[in-house]
Amino acid sequence: MASPTYQAVSWNDGAVRLLEQRDLPHREHYKDYQGARETADAIRDMVVRGAPAIGCTAAYGLASEAFTIMKSRGIPNSWSDALAPGMETLRNSRPTAVNLMWALDELKPLVEERSADPATLPERLLAAAQKIFDDDVASCKAMGRIGAQLLPDTGDRPITIMTHCNAGALATAGYGTALGVIRGAVEMGRSVHVIANETRPYLQGARLTAWELLEDGIDTTLITDNMAGWLMQCGEIDAIVVGADRVAGNGDAANKIGTYTHSVLAKRHGIPFFVACPLSTIDRETASGSGIAIEDRDAKEVTEIFDKPIAPANVKVRHPAFDVTPAELITALVTEKGAVHPPSKEGIDTLFE
Ligand code: MRU
Repeated sequence: MASPTYQAVSWNDGAVRLLEQRDLPHREHYKDYQGARETADAIRDMVVRGAPAIGCTAAYGLASEAFTIMKSRGIPNSWSDALAPGMETLRNSRPTAVNLMWALDELKPLVEERSADPATLPERLLAAAQKIFDDDVASCKAMGRIGAQLLPDTGDRPITIMTHCNAGALATAGYGTALGVIRGAVEMGRSVHVIANETRPYLQGARLTAWELLEDGIDTTLITDNMAGWLMQCGEIDAIVVGADRVAGNGDAANKIGTYTHSVLAKRHGIPFFVACPLSTIDRETASGSGIAIEDRDAKEVTEIFDKPIAPANVKVRHPAFDVTPAELITALVTEKGAVHPPSKEGIDTLFE
């Protein structure tokens, strides 16, 4: 499969370059973000989104903060003290996607290192951030190959795969998790048809997944979220593949709101339900899904579509941005180290050995 012409996250001369995902699919353009504050705002405001992409962005954001500090004030007495506020700002930019915290934790030992030359810290942070980025691409490709082999055999008929939200190249360093499995199937020579759920309220499915799959020439049909159950009942869906923002130690998986609904429907209709994510999305310190923080977002994202009100101004609104699918509803958790089916604490622990 040809490499995409777009890149959700990259490094550009001391700054984090982000594809402005809020303007897709109409306009493809990029902006540079300098330092931790600007980068954290971009994460919070959804310029970049998707768990692994947020992790890569935070890592580059911390490197950018270090370069910015050194340029304006020289080498600080303590890098740890100088970077602490920026690290905290980045860490708090979104609460559910654990890749964000994971990436910052990966960089922390460098920040706290006392024996290395402090003048080289920005360069060392950048190299570590680049490694997180490169590893994520490799992980996505590996889980794509592994997941594709688990998809059901449909004989001569194309396989129809449903996906929810966007867990693709736009949500990672490249290739994607759930869309990585779909790309893996295409690369294996399978004929694939994708049903993309639009994913209210932020429309990641309609705006991003549909765009990204069409860019690759993959046969894609868009539906609104409430059509999914009917298509399952009509026997039109062979498998469901989604990504994850945080998987607890027992395999419960937090992903975009609506994922849980689809997992229940999949169980009802005997459709295999796969969750694809890198090990960096697995948070073994959180024992089960009940411990995962669920982000509540602005009511306006529910009451308005593209700044146009669609509800009475005084209506009460709930807006949890994620839900948790219990491990028992997941056929297999697909990672770069192999698949665990069904997901369990024991199975997940073996991935880390
Ligand atoms: O709110 P978002 O767009 O950041 O939510 C993204 C998702 O829920 C994705 O499915 C998840 O991060 C997996 S990305 C490979």
